[in-house]
Amino acid sequence: MKKTVFAAFVSAGVLLAAPSSAVDKESDSVKEIGKAASQQLLKTLGGNLKKHLKAGGPEAALRFCSGNAYSLTEKVDASLGSRISVKRISRRYRNPQNAPDAGETAVLQIFDQMKKNGIEMPDALVQNLGNGTYRYYKPLVIAKGVCLKCHGDVQKSDPALYSAIKSLYPDDRAMHYKMGDLRGAVVVEVQR
Ligand code: HEC
Repeated sequence: MKKTVFAAFVSAGVLLAAPSSAVDKESDSVKEIGKAASQQLLKTLGGNLKKHLKAGGPEAALRFCSGNAYSLTEKVDASLGSRISVKRISRRYRNPQNAPDAGETAVLQIFDQMKKNGIEMPDALVQNLGNGTYRYYKPLVIAKGVCLKCHGDVQKSDPALYSAIKSLYPDDRAMHYKMGDLRGAVVVEVQR
């Protein structure tokens, strides 16, 4: 009798456990894919930024990023195949092509709320959109002083660079950031 009850629990447990562990597995694989894709994008953009800052200073780097950051992002995106896409988003964007959609805005607001409430930023959040579609969000925080050259109080620190930014991006929203601010996110959409 005891054995039968035990066996029933075990089999029920297995049945109950099966769907949730399948979901865990799926979200683990999304995390792996998201991490690799976001690293690839950030490495590509960061490497180019560093190279052009060193070679020509902030204004040359600004012009390089303005002309190439988006197309480099599209190139990395295309290299990942049709079931994985990668891009950068920000509520306070420089390039309007990096504006978030409604769902992405909601997640950026969650990151903002976490920051405001002293909750440690996670490496990433995974959102299940249903039908096998997931979004991996990696928050981008201003962690290096160099970011502020082009995203800080530029009008004060470098008036010539400020004019260059304003002429390239008349509706720029991506200045006046401070160290530790949430700058935006990398979004990796994965189709399982
Ligand atoms: C030399 C100037 C420069 C520096 C330094 C710089 N950025 Fe940018 N950043 C830009 C430009 C220009 C764009 C817009 C690129 C485009 O048109 O796609 C941009 C865009 C972005 C975006 C995409 C969202 C948006 O606003 O369009 C993020 C995120 C970002 N930068 C983060 C950073 C971080 C983090 C650092 C420090 C590691 C940094 N940037 C340093 C010039 C700079």
